[in-house]
Amino acid sequence: MRPQGEPVAAEAVIVDRRRAIYTSVSVPVFEKAQVENIVFDVVAVVGATGAVGRIIVSLLEERRFPARSVKFLASQRSAGTKLRFRGEEQTIEELSPEAFEGVDLAIGSTPDPVAREFAPWAVERGCVVIDESGYFRMDPKVPLVIPEVNPQAVESHQGIISSPNCSTTQLVVALKPLHDAARVRRVVVSTYQAASGIGVAGSRDLEQGTHARLHGQPFHYEAFAHPIAFNVIPQIGSEKHQGYTSEEMKMVHETRKILGDPSIQICPTCVRVPVGNVHSESILVETERPIEVDEARRLFAAMPGVVVVDDLPAGKYPMPLTCDGRDEVFIGRIRKDLSHPSGLAFWCVSDNLRKGAATNAVQIGELLARKRAGQGRPVGARA
Ligand SMILES: NC(=O)c1ccc[n+]([C@@H]2O[C@H](COP(=O)([O-])OP(=O)(O)OC[C@H]3O[C@@H](n4cnc5c(N)ncnc54)[C@H](OP(=O)(O)O)[C@@H]3O)[C@@H](O)[C@H]2O)c1
Repeated sequence: MRPQGEPVAAEAVIVDRRRAIYTSVSVPVFEKAQVENIVFDVVAVVGATGAVGRIIVSLLEERRFPARSVKFLASQRSAGTKLRFRGEEQTIEELSPEAFEGVDLAIGSTPDPVAREFAPWAVERGCVVIDESGYFRMDPKVPLVIPEVNPQAVESHQGIISSPNCSTTQLVVALKPLHDAARVRRVVVSTYQAASGIGVAGSRDLEQGTHARLHGQPFHYEAFAHPIAFNVIPQIGSEKHQGYTSEEMKMVHETRKILGDPSIQICPTCVRVPVGNVHSESILVETERPIEVDEARRLFAAMPGVVVVDDLPAGKYPMPLTCDGRDEVFIGRIRKDLSHPSGLAFWCVSDNLRKGAATNAVQIGELLARKRAGQGRPVGARA
């Protein structure tokens, strides 16, 4: 048996088609935990009714997360409503400081101001917080973690661990093997972000706005400043820095923090598109040493959590509809930059609610579980 805490080796499956360009790797970073090996006594899901929170709830069950019990917290609006977990009906509780009494681990996916308030309540009570919001990500005391990329960063946590922004996560998973092999100097990235990236209200706006438009009815958008149905909006977040938005600047700062390299130059453009779920990105990378297409394919294929789907003549490349509900980062359309010898261009697609949010947070929880199990700490002992 493999000792607990060791990553599972990636198994590359290379399907040598006519042009030998379909490579696929599909493995979890770590073996899924077994619920029988309880590590956490009580886990809390904060924001359990949200777009990300609902997936966290299903992942805790699906991946047999090693918690004896799980409690579900949300706003006053949802308190008292029910959800099913491990075959039983559970009641959602209102978020409060007292809700964290006896909780070992909290996984939070709430708006930033809510995270700012609840995380200290939890930490004061000895609970470790894995937070999806943007509030703590750039705090130097808070590790920003993608388990495939910088798992060692969890070691330095002081109670709060942040999970990156969805558009950053898939970018960094793709950049990591290129950076390790040939040092990434410059990145130009344009995103095609789905409506679910703005939460339950974004998905509702897209569906109802599309229906209204098709039926010639008026519709008032709640989550978007402009109609998202039959449209493309070149603004995500607010104006932040020299004409770049807050979403774009998150991609710059978070990428540098996770890769531990402040010298990487990044020029992002973040765009909302009328896609229900799953973000896509067009990425152009300049490396110190030029990377040829075949080498890039091999590097991507060896990266845990990456699936390469790249056969242009056969019309095979990742798309939101083919990657919806998957936990990996998908890469295709790999080609040399025609304008620069050190440039490499590719297309990257990932489910923003899963790897871009919920899956990444639960994987961080699994990392902590292995660390604690490896230390032989009794259930309920605080991290
Ligand atoms: N959507 C994505 O693709 C994505 C990706 C990465 C990170 N994130 C981040 O994850 C967080 C959640 O995003 P989401 O898309 O899941 O949003 P969402 O669908 O709007 O869900 C928000 C959740 O927060 C809860 N909440 C709101 N105000 C609260 C309050 N005052 N007290 C307690 N709970 C409160 C809501 O509970 P009620 O239902 O009771 O209102 C709901 O459960 C955000 O910080 C977002 O930036 C999202």
